[in-house]
Amino acid sequence: MKVKCNGCGKKYHVDDAKIPEGRRLEIPCPGCKTLIPVMKQATAPSQLPTRGQDLLDKIVNESKALPPMPEVMGRAREVMGDEKCGFNEIGAVIETDQALATRVLKIANSSYYALSVPVSTVKQAAAIMGCQAISDLITVVSTSKMLGKNLAGYNLTSRQIWEHSLACAYASRMIAEMKAPTLANDAFNAGLIHDSGLLMLDPFIGLLKQTFKKAMALSGTTFCDVEMKLFGFTHAQVAGLFFEKWKLPKIQTDAIGLHHTPKESDNPLAHIIHAGDAVAMRCMASSSPIVSQTIIHPETLSILSLTEKELEEVGTKAAQAVQSVTLSLA
Ligand SMILES: [Fe+2]
Ligand SMILES: [Fe+2]
Repeated sequence: MKVKCNGCGKKYHVDDAKIPEGRRLEIPCPGCKTLIPVMKQATAPSQLPTRGQDLLDKIVNESKALPPMPEVMGRAREVMGDEKCGFNEIGAVIETDQALATRVLKIANSSYYALSVPVSTVKQAAAIMGCQAISDLITVVSTSKMLGKNLAGYNLTSRQIWEHSLACAYASRMIAEMKAPTLANDAFNAGLIHDSGLLMLDPFIGLLKQTFKKAMALSGTTFCDVEMKLFGFTHAQVAGLFFEKWKLPKIQTDAIGLHHTPKESDNPLAHIIHAGDAVAMRCMASSSPIVSQTIIHPETLSILSLTEKELEEVGTKAAQAVQSVTLSLA
């Protein structure tokens, strides 16, 4: 960008890449030291790529809808990855963050976990509940703020998206425990954040709200079909790519990316999250079409050999878990 000093009249070239969008800076003139105001206009939505790979790259690389992985989650994951990890180590990680420790203890003492004695320290809770259960709670608490946002474009409240995410996490873990126990932890994590792509796509849906509404009104159209038509990709793909940046295991990022289209892959976790997602929609009654599409692909039912009775039981337990966690964190 070219700028001119109002003091001495000299013209200079300033590197655009070094100027933040939408903020006014003052740079001293190298000649006479007069301050030269410099401002780069924020990119107007109309100048953004509107669909396809360019928009997908922009959202995944620049989205501020999701923060970097919460530090304590990263440290907890490292500690849990160490085979010698015990409840002292995991307790020590959480206790570095008192607000987090308090919230974890609140949930641990809730009726869902039905502990025989109330716990007052995270180490105690880890000793009774096991490190994995505590690690799940860290994930829940760390993501609660991130997922608890109103989505004006999709017309979803923070409560709807948070409850749906929690229900999917618990349902996916239960399905994995029954059908593929080694995937239980991956199922919980991936289930919790499977719909984070909605947060990142929401501002763009907001810009096209009327078109989105009209397309949604067509019978037999799912919101994934509409996303695909408007942008050329879905919220699932956005989230799958985004979480590669959090360095989540590939089995999780793939499953998140495929949670609406699991038959495109042989990743068993994609089928588990797909089933957990549908169970979550069944057990948390909602008027929003975004969180009330309850059909499970027949391939998923047969690959996981899931029965309707099992799905119903999982739904009942997942709803209890959600109620307990949301009451504890209220
Ligand atoms: Fe989804
Ligand atoms: Fe979902």
